[in-house]
Amino acid sequence: MRKNFGKKSWFYPLPVLIISTYDENGNPDAMNAAWGGLYDADKVVLCLSAGHKTTQNIQSKGAFAVSFANADHVVPADYVGLVSANNEPEKMKKSGFHTTKSEFVDAPLIDELPVTMECKLLKVNEDGNIIGQIVNVSIDESVLNEAGSLDMSKFQPIAFEPANNGYHVLGERVGNAFRDGAELK
Ligand SMILES: Cc1cc2nc3c(=O)[nH]c(=O)nc-3n(C[C@H](O)[C@H](O)[C@H](O)COP(=O)(O)O)c2cc1C
Repeated sequence: MRKNFGKKSWFYPLPVLIISTYDENGNPDAMNAAWGGLYDADKVVLCLSAGHKTTQNIQSKGAFAVSFANADHVVPADYVGLVSANNEPEKMKKSGFHTTKSEFVDAPLIDELPVTMECKLLKVNEDGNIIGQIVNVSIDESVLNEAGSLDMSKFQPIAFEPANNGYHVLGERVGNAFRDGAELK
């Protein structure tokens, strides 16, 4: 027996994307975004409200970075989703996040978040959604394994669970993509 919940945005997993940008004076900002994802093979899409400082920054700089929040940074990741740089000039200082300018785009990288997509603004579509071209992915060595590849047990990205407003860690490997299904062929 299924229980119907009606029209909900309960999509699994929803990411916890931390979007980092510079304003016109070069001040960094960051915000939390769950309504976003991969678009095509080399682009990202973000559904951002027009009033956010981040949205204005992306339009003025033509660039942004997308980092994935991890289990060690739940509090600052949530904080940057609760407070706007439009109202709190000390937002980044209070968050505890530190930034370094990207080598590839005019956007800051969050030093504490190890996996980041550096993006150029490609376009704003007819619904006002932001489409960014992925220019580079950078990963801090602290979350790489001995073979130089991403180690999920070190990375520990989190997902937003919208039915109960929770953050959940992603981690345990339960299968092999493009391979396990072959046993049923
Ligand atoms: C879990 C979570 C998810 C969020 N997802 C989005 C989103 O996808 N789009 C959006 O416009 N705002 C989203 N927000 C709200 C922004 O992060 C928030 O309004 C932020 O203060 C904007 O900061 P800024 O004005 O400094 O850019 C989310 C907040 C939280 C806590």
